[in-house]
Amino acid sequence: MNTPLTKEEQEKLLDAAQQARENSYSPYSKFKVGAAVLTEDGSIFTGTNIENASYGLTVCAERNAIFAAVGAGKRKFRALALITQKLPGLDFNSPCGACRQVMSEFIAPDAPVYIAVLDGPKRTVYTKQLQELMPFPFDKFSEK
Ligand code: THU
Repeated sequence: MNTPLTKEEQEKLLDAAQQARENSYSPYSKFKVGAAVLTEDGSIFTGTNIENASYGLTVCAERNAIFAAVGAGKRKFRALALITQKLPGLDFNSPCGACRQVMSEFIAPDAPVYIAVLDGPKRTVYTKQLQELMPFPFDKFSEK
């Protein structure tokens, strides 16, 4: 069972994602995304989207955050936050399918995914459980 985050932990994670978004390398889409994961031992790792002239090589913010953490030896996360700008006609942008599959490798099904949207100075946060976003992940191995 995932321990719920305190309001302070949640805000800190969202602030870290928002900060990481500033480093977005997105000259092609001009769409900046920031992400952050909170590890079980209380540290935060961040990522941003990094695009490439060969478009398909772009890596999303969420995967960059998770891979940074896993590369540092962390494999268990209590939550993930991502943040984008508000797009007309959309309440929020939810993570792409590839990122959902990668999240499912390391994040518990009942862990929160905070999806934040920036509209000028206003930050609106939508909270989902990973299992709502990714109900049937591919899982080849039963033990990690
Ligand atoms: N992007 C992310 O970083 N995360 C997502 O979940 C979806 C899309 C990035 C990829 C690309 O740089 C830009 O947003 C537009 O698709």
